[in-house]
Amino acid sequence: MTKRVGIASDHGGYPLKVELVPWLQAEGYDVVDLGAHELDPLDDYPDFADAAAQAIVSGQVERAIVFCGSGAGASIAANKVPGVRAAVCHDTYSAHQAVEHDDMNVICIGARVIGAEVARELITAFLTAQLLDGEKYHRRLKKVAAIEQRSLK
Ligand code: RB5
Repeated sequence: MTKRVGIASDHGGYPLKVELVPWLQAEGYDVVDLGAHELDPLDDYPDFADAAAQAIVSGQVERAIVFCGSGAGASIAANKVPGVRAAVCHDTYSAHQAVEHDDMNVICIGARVIGAEVARELITAFLTAQLLDGEKYHRRLKKVAAIEQRSLK
């Protein structure tokens, strides 16, 4: 089971992050808050998506949650880091299926799109899902990794 979870947001997601950190801790997760640590309307989502991505690739956390206004900017930025598989998920099916099929390790959520209760359901679906052990999933993930490697050359 996933235990170490990173959480990050820009100003667009900050109020939702503040609300959900105590809940995640109460659920038994070791939460690493990667910022923002204050509400700064001038902060930039790539900084926090990068912090979450680095925490994933360094092994500091097993999975990460990033909030911005829409989830889109956070997803775009986090996916620039090799080894990150991030997606915007605003429905529970995607939140667990993207782990089960695609080994998603960062969920991106738009705090201007959904409320706290839906966010709790998405995060629960994300954190309790596991990659399925089927040959087709591993084959597809190898193809994704090959695209990443080719692009790094
Ligand atoms: C910030 O105003 C907003 O642009 C950002 O949080 C995010 O929605 C970008 O995708």
